[in-house]
Amino acid sequence: MIRTIGVPAETKDGERRVVLEPSAAAMAVSAGFEVRVQSNAGVGAGFTNEAYEKVGAKIVPTAADAWEADLVVKVKEPQPSEWQYFREGLQLFAYLHLAAEPDLARALMASGVEAFAFETLSYPRGLPLLAPMSEVAGRAAAIMGAYYLASGSGTLLGGAAGVTPARVVVVGMGVAGTMAARGARGMDAEVTGVDIDLARLYELHQQGIITSSLASSEMAIAEAIVQADLVVGAALVPGAKAPKLVTRQHIESMRPGSVVVDLAIDQGGCIETSRPTSLSHPTFVEAGVVHYCVTNVPGQYPRTSSRALSAAVAPRLLDLARDPASERLVGALNVSKGQIVYKAVAESLGF
Ligand SMILES: NC(=O)c1ccc[n+]([C@@H]2O[C@H](COP(=O)([O-])OP(=O)(O)OC[C@H]3O[C@@H](n4cnc5c(N)ncnc54)[C@H](O)[C@@H]3O)[C@@H](O)[C@H]2O)c1
Repeated sequence: MIRTIGVPAETKDGERRVVLEPSAAAMAVSAGFEVRVQSNAGVGAGFTNEAYEKVGAKIVPTAADAWEADLVVKVKEPQPSEWQYFREGLQLFAYLHLAAEPDLARALMASGVEAFAFETLSYPRGLPLLAPMSEVAGRAAAIMGAYYLASGSGTLLGGAAGVTPARVVVVGMGVAGTMAARGARGMDAEVTGVDIDLARLYELHQQGIITSSLASSEMAIAEAIVQADLVVGAALVPGAKAPKLVTRQHIESMRPGSVVVDLAIDQGGCIETSRPTSLSHPTFVEAGVVHYCVTNVPGQYPRTSSRALSAAVAPRLLDLARDPASERLVGALNVSKGQIVYKAVAESLGF
């Protein structure tokens, strides 16, 4: 039975989000739970300790105090320094991305934590706890891509009189891909959307969010990428390791100084040359192409992101605290009784 809910401060590099804003903490307090917020956990997003105290949450001095709660809710997957707090009977609710984090998966299994992932919860449809951060990350992808193209190939997305606009290819036209395409279109680039979902491509083309659409195949992607200035990777198979849709050969065919933004990096990346980067060191150059592969892109917009995430998480947090078997948590449970219980995660990890 859950009595206490812990909100530790985030520890991932550059991460300034907090999972519950004070109004969400207030909901949990009114529902009868003791909410323990680590001191200054909300400061990066503009929420003071006093704001939490005002709604009845308890400010606790250390991470250990927050992790002592029956149920811990946080934004990013626990970092190795936090694994010491894992214990039998603890419930954890956070982004986990276990397909790309085998060591974390092992640590959770070995400790007996019951781990629920935001990114695989599918009630009532879609991935409603992933969507708000995909929305932010997609918008950011267009901004980051445009920014790094300046120092890369020196290309402006919108072109100029007598100069064609830049070409952007977005692979995976779900929430993140759509927002990236909208951002790039807003800057007047030519945007090709790639997906396996033709109905989705039709809709986005009709709405003018993409200028052309392409059914996803190795050959089609190769042809589009050779001409691209910016590639955004945003393909997802829920829970699974991201499919490698853009190969090293495709990347080598691009003009030097072109840019790729691989948002799918949190699931292992859908671009072969990608590897995870951090907010402190966001890019590297591989095959002459600038790679931006930050695993916590929304962390750089902590105010907007925390509020959006908190609004989506709070109702499901209450469901979890009251009844972990609630149908409103369908798809969320990833680790239980020492086993990976989400099929696509287990298959990706080979466990
Ligand atoms: N890096 C970050 O900070 C960050 C932040 C938020 C989200 N993300 C990630 O962005 C990715 C996309 O998330 P989303 O919410 O947009 O997912 P989504 O489910 O809304 O969309 C995924 C899309 O990929 C498409 N797809 C699947 N297989 C494909 C294939 N073989 N070829 C082309 N398209 C294919 C699907 O049809 C779908 O339209 C996820 O990996 C998510 O975790 C990363």
